[in-house]
Amino acid sequence: MKKIIAILSFIVLCISMSSCGTPVQQTNNRIKIGVLVYDEGDTFLKGIINEMIADAKNRSKGDVDVTITVGDASGDQNTQNDQMEDMIANGCNVLAINLVDRTDPTSIINLAKKNNVPIVFFNRELVKHDLERWNQLYYVGAPAIRSGMMQGEEIADYVRSHPEADKNGDGKIQYVLLKGEQNHQDTIIRSEKAVSTAINYGVRLDKLAGEVANWSRAQAQNRMQQMINEYGDRIELVICNNDDMALGVIDDYRKMQIPVKDYPAIFGIDGTEEAVKDLKEGTLKGTVYNDAAAQADKIMQLAVALAQDEDVSNVVHSNSKSFYIDYQKLTRSNVEEFEQEHENK
Ligand code: GAL
Ligand code: CA
Repeated sequence: MKKIIAILSFIVLCISMSSCGTPVQQTNNRIKIGVLVYDEGDTFLKGIINEMIADAKNRSKGDVDVTITVGDASGDQNTQNDQMEDMIANGCNVLAINLVDRTDPTSIINLAKKNNVPIVFFNRELVKHDLERWNQLYYVGAPAIRSGMMQGEEIADYVRSHPEADKNGDGKIQYVLLKGEQNHQDTIIRSEKAVSTAINYGVRLDKLAGEVANWSRAQAQNRMQQMINEYGDRIELVICNNDDMALGVIDDYRKMQIPVKDYPAIFGIDGTEEAVKDLKEGTLKGTVYNDAAAQADKIMQLAVALAQDEDVSNVVHSNSKSFYIDYQKLTRSNVEEFEQEHENK
């Protein structure tokens, strides 16, 4: 008799747990996403944040409510760690984090584990080993190497079809490089790959100088002025790790009232709205589109699934913990087509 009761109660338990396929636990429809960024003034990141906010609005329908709170670390990792604690205390059930120092996520990861709050890191890539420290950590970004290759190809195409780019006719292209933050994966990889790709395509490059301008338009204008003071119109090509720095370079040539036809060939990366204007004016020769909307979309999909304790492999169709949205070349020859595609989105 005891045995029968035990078996029966076991069966009842099993039925109640599976309850004909409907989830036992009610899904959480109040999703509070804490977004932490290294610097809210960064143009490309502003784009990602705006897309995430729009996405959260779209998702908030009926009894579903998705809210986003943004914290700006102003370039200080300790500030970001404090902001994370506040966000958890305020009831955020998932975090999207753009690390200040991508090589130092230990406190952030420990805090997340301790409080059982999943994290989707984005844009500033942490090393694989750190991402493996907990199964609730993910990364969304873009493949740096592809942006460098594409920029290098654009440079090679341009130089080949514009022999006048070699202003002094010595068969080499004298260039300067403007770099983003020194330890950023995009700075390191783009700088190396853009140059090596252009060389592989047969461009003879001659480096005059390289300066760090930390992604910033104002800093780039400043550094460019120093390089112009030193090298003047020997500069035939300016390779920039992002568009804001390319715009800073253009600001400087504009300020000096140099005719556009005498500008060196200037190249950037990101495809920001401002940069697209300069592309059409011909002051910027090429950029590489860094798809903020697609990255924001992936971050949101992951964040919402994690907050609801869903199996994210359904969301991302892969076992990987890192997701990369590819870049796209953007020059004068495809800018109209690009704009049309984006209007239709
Ligand atoms: C890069 C982007 C830069 C800057 C940086 C910040 O991917 O091209 O413009 O936003 O991220 O981490
Ligand atoms: Ca030359």
